[in-house]
Amino acid sequence: MKDAAPQTVYLSDYKPFGWRVEDVSLTFRLAPEATRILSRIRFAPDPAAPAQDFFLHGEDVSLIRATIDGAEVTPEITPQGLRCAVPEGAFTWEAEVEIAPASNTALEGLYMSGGMYCTQCEAEGFRKITYYPDRPDVMATFSVRIESDLPVLLSNGNPTGSGDGWAEWHDPWPKPAYLFALVTGDLRNHPDTFTTRSGKEVALNIWVRPGDEGKCAWGMEALKKSMTWDEEVHGREYDLDVFNIVAVDDFNMGAMENKGLNIFNSAAVLASPETATDANFERIESIIAHEYFHNWTGNRITCRDWFQLCLKEGLTVFRDQQFTSDLRSAAVKRIEDVAQLRARQFPEDQGPLAHPVRPESFQEINNFYTATVYEKGAEVIGMLKRLVGDEAYAKALDLYFDRHDGDAATIEDWLRVFEDATGRDLSQFKRWYSQAGTPRLSVEEAWDDGTYTLTFTQVTPPTPGQPDKAPQVIPIAVGLLSPNGDEAVPTRMLEMTEGKQSFAFEGLSARPVPSILRGFSAPVVLERDVPAEERAFLLAHDADPFNRWDSSRSLAREALIAMIRDGAEPDATWIDALGRVLRDETLDPAFRALMLGLPTQAELAQVLHEKGVTPDPDAICNSTEAMADAMAKRFEPMLDDLAAQAQVDAPYAPDAEQSGKRSLGGAVLALRTRLDGGAAARAQFAAADNMTLQLSALTCLIRAGEARAELDAFHDQWQGDRLVMDKWFGLQIAAADPAEAPDRAKALTQHPAFDWKNPNRFRAVLGALAMNHAGFHHKTGAGYRLLADWLLRLDPLNPQTTARMCSAFQTWRRYDTGRQAMMKEQLERIAAKDGLSRDTSEMVGRILS
Ligand code: PHE
Ligand code: ZN
Repeated sequence: MKDAAPQTVYLSDYKPFGWRVEDVSLTFRLAPEATRILSRIRFAPDPAAPAQDFFLHGEDVSLIRATIDGAEVTPEITPQGLRCAVPEGAFTWEAEVEIAPASNTALEGLYMSGGMYCTQCEAEGFRKITYYPDRPDVMATFSVRIESDLPVLLSNGNPTGSGDGWAEWHDPWPKPAYLFALVTGDLRNHPDTFTTRSGKEVALNIWVRPGDEGKCAWGMEALKKSMTWDEEVHGREYDLDVFNIVAVDDFNMGAMENKGLNIFNSAAVLASPETATDANFERIESIIAHEYFHNWTGNRITCRDWFQLCLKEGLTVFRDQQFTSDLRSAAVKRIEDVAQLRARQFPEDQGPLAHPVRPESFQEINNFYTATVYEKGAEVIGMLKRLVGDEAYAKALDLYFDRHDGDAATIEDWLRVFEDATGRDLSQFKRWYSQAGTPRLSVEEAWDDGTYTLTFTQVTPPTPGQPDKAPQVIPIAVGLLSPNGDEAVPTRMLEMTEGKQSFAFEGLSARPVPSILRGFSAPVVLERDVPAEERAFLLAHDADPFNRWDSSRSLAREALIAMIRDGAEPDATWIDALGRVLRDETLDPAFRALMLGLPTQAELAQVLHEKGVTPDPDAICNSTEAMADAMAKRFEPMLDDLAAQAQVDAPYAPDAEQSGKRSLGGAVLALRTRLDGGAAARAQFAAADNMTLQLSALTCLIRAGEARAELDAFHDQWQGDRLVMDKWFGLQIAAADPAEAPDRAKALTQHPAFDWKNPNRFRAVLGALAMNHAGFHHKTGAGYRLLADWLLRLDPLNPQTTARMCSAFQTWRRYDTGRQAMMKEQLERIAAKDGLSRDTSEMVGRILS
């Protein structure tokens, strides 16, 4: 059980442990209710750090016995660990503990999932396995012996021996305990091999439950592509004889980069054309890459403490984004990433949960695996790369790997590498790591006799604990277009360092049209009242695909806001301009599909809030519907042509080209359904031979309120497939008419297949409700109540997933007083619960503060 008064941990309190761990041996005697773990750990005083109290973390473990150098000891046990008198020099600690994996529902430490044993140790789960200095700066080599009757016994590193009922593993690379892993079960293998460029052969395996063997091929291809990419781009090779991936059904997150034994949420690795969509395939490819890339950025070089989490996560996200843009379309990937950033990170950065990319305090570190640490963390690295240039970035990364291999490093170490490699002073740049909040960038322009001047002003609004902000370094990519649409001045990287700063472009023959923040060169809100004609001009001519998309997006946003606030009609000028882009067959279908997408309702709420307007979820929803109807009517004459261009004639492949066509096809079908009442969607559903087509048809039918028969058919077809059933649960809530969404969700929580202890299924229902903006914010408060009911129910079992899902309430203050009061009531009801977990209580406390 957690302590009553949660402790806050501060970055400024960091102290080394005081001992080094030279070597760890673990023996696991697995049994569901009584697993015994024997540990033998060699400790030596750390010459660099003064010895203090000898404290080992340990939670929910029963100590059976402990010895130091063979002599029995009786440590003082606390709820967080144990304290013990120890000799002055080096010594050997041995302990035997007992734990009960079958009753571990938190999915942290050693737990069971569908008959298999598996572990999740990041961030602080190893302490639920045995007593240990469970902190990332303590790195050691591990030898593991597993004793179990189950056929497959896996741990980190290389296998060193096995026999009937046992197996042994040794990991030669020193690692922190959070990278420890063990998996045991009746598993099937999808094997392959990879030869590194220095000629080392590596055995690759994807381990799955019987029946899932047919869903491994794509993950394996992605793994091999990732291994090649890291060799080619960063010169990084894999460093063990085997690389194992395991798919687990019960998992709180996407996946985990344990050394040599990555553990994946089965949704993040299993795929077949019949059961997974193109978007699933792309996501799996990027998560496989992400976890693999951690082998160097995270494992070989790890974090000194959890405040440095972005050191591994921001960098690894940045690396997986680069991988995807190299393999697929860089423009499409950038647009998708920015749309995600605005949808997930901006609300966090502009609400009560705002925190710096490198936080300075926390109660529960699990609450800091956030969009800010991950996605904004990656943006910060992207800015660094833009500022120093590609070549210097590559040089700095080489230096980072050389200098810090084997280290538990900090953001200071990371920035020093860039300073040493480039001679730049990055002290101001470092504010991106310490200041929370999204900077707002406003622009003024002046034209005077051939000289065009842009003057920028940056303001970062206050965030919790940070009332005043200093100016940050903002790379602003700008290109200038001449009146005929040509590029008058190609992209230039302006480096803004002051609160207000001007940049002049000389020698121009005519007043240009600026394209500002190309490629979204910094994670800021650009505040500029651009005349609609100018945006339309950029939509037609901008050479930068991101800004071309963003011009259209801004026009759509502004048109929608006029509809929401003033009851305006859909903006026919924008729709016509968009139509011209859509007809341009030289443009990538994937890009045209993105152009057809409207801002999400949550994004519109966010933008209204940024403009100081109280968002009305029903008005937002109705305007979005009206806009989509107007687009359908206006584009009707070209829908056949577009559908023909979206046609795929080759056998199914989830590559960029085919996926792009299918996403254009999906967007066209959505418009068509508004005109034909669902006839085309019904035909596509009936004929579909892959999940992308089947699901896009089903989505259209649900939105049209015409999906009864198809939902039943889908259920009957897929009831044996857990991952597809998650889609069945989620989609009928996410795409439901908002007026019905809370009731729909409630009814589905009573469905016999609603296994609420499984995080994927729980999220499929309650997470989907939170994603249906107007449904969640239903004026009766039924959405709020239902979510709170279930969060209260889940919290005692799985605090981590409960706490993460509380963020659905993070925007509560921006709505009308009625909705505010109802959300506050639910938050207070959660906060008041006896025995609430530390995770959830920290989140709710921050959201309410
Ligand atoms: N480190 C994992 C990743 O980003 C995420 C994770 C965190 C998984 C905590 C489980 C628990 O790849
Ligand atoms: Zn990661």
